[in-house]
Amino acid sequence: MTTVGSGGAATEDTAGRSPTDTGHRPVAAVLAACRDTVTPAQRAAIDSLPGSVRHVAGYHLGWWDADGTPVPDGGGKAVRPALALLSAGVAGAGQVQDAVPAAVAVELVHDFSLLHDDVMDRDPTRRHRPTAWSVFGIGPAILAGDALLALAADVLAGSGHPAAGQGVRMLTTTVQELVEGQMSDLAFERRTDVGLAECLDMAEAKTGSLLGCACSLGALFGGGRPDEVARLRRFGRDIGLAFQVVDDLLGIWGDPRTTGKPAGSDLRRRKKSLPVIVALTSGRPAGRELAALYRGDAELSDADVSRAAALVEHAGGRAWCRTKADALVADALDLLPVGGDGTEPAAVSDLHELARLLVRRDR
Ligand code: IPE
Ligand code: IPE
Ligand code: MG
Ligand code: MG
Repeated sequence: MTTVGSGGAATEDTAGRSPTDTGHRPVAAVLAACRDTVTPAQRAAIDSLPGSVRHVAGYHLGWWDADGTPVPDGGGKAVRPALALLSAGVAGAGQVQDAVPAAVAVELVHDFSLLHDDVMDRDPTRRHRPTAWSVFGIGPAILAGDALLALAADVLAGSGHPAAGQGVRMLTTTVQELVEGQMSDLAFERRTDVGLAECLDMAEAKTGSLLGCACSLGALFGGGRPDEVARLRRFGRDIGLAFQVVDDLLGIWGDPRTTGKPAGSDLRRRKKSLPVIVALTSGRPAGRELAALYRGDAELSDADVSRAAALVEHAGGRAWCRTKADALVADALDLLPVGGDGTEPAAVSDLHELARLLVRRDR
């Protein structure tokens, strides 16, 4: 298995590491190398869209602004493509390049889900910019999301990979689970009796499912054995749940200048995110005060949102989530390394570093 970012025998990757050097490299360099590997195929896929949809999608991806002027260095963290390529390196017997369609497809599904999620959550900001729906309208944002979902299946089906059919099924099953998770997330907004176990199930469904798919699809397209594919799916789901736990923490205590998302919007909308549910089910006085604040109908003021954040913390929601995220990743890492002869040692260490970053991130 060739290393991610190894463009050829005489080239160096983004970290300045030669392809034959399997030593440790910073995780930012791993993400950058994966992005470099995937971007040409992602661009080609987006370029195949009808012009009007391509325009909205490219805006959302951070490639150009609302009037089409190219924008440098935009976009998301590209975590899911990196997981797909590294999983191919860990489990695969072929070339990392074989997993590029898997990496593109999972990021297309991710972007579909974000376009729709921002409409559902009524969020005005993502990736440091106005959300697509707030720029182009709700209809165009939904349609762009629909197009990306269809494109994801098309990229896999048209890849010519011998496992393409199985890959499409893995992706579509994942989307059904993600949709179910998003349904629960919305339903929880109106319920007052949400339990911790069902909140964890919801987070695993809406986010863990796609990170699990990124890892298993990457492993499948990289030529991994069925047991390796299954093990990487479990790994991805666990770190995916941890990722959502941290997303919920950042949604309350993250710095919007770093996250690129509005501060306090989950609390303002009375979302039942994990730290909130831990607090509401804690049985502590701060949890009861938070429940009273969440029961009202009136728009929460800035002072209410600050108070709610303090109550979540006093009721133990912040500490519980921090500990949970770390424990999930520690357990997930015990599932690695997998594979035999084809395993690329650098991919195993890169996957370790990436998993740790996902729960230590500030964006
Ligand atoms: C945000 O995902 C949505 C969640 C599932 C938590 P990311 O934090 O990976 O978003 P980008 O792609 O980096 O913007
Ligand atoms: C993440 O939803 C899950 C999906 C988009 C499928 P959230 O609503 O928790 O994520 P952010 O915080 O808006 O990125
Ligand atoms: Mg959201
Ligand atoms: Mg949401």
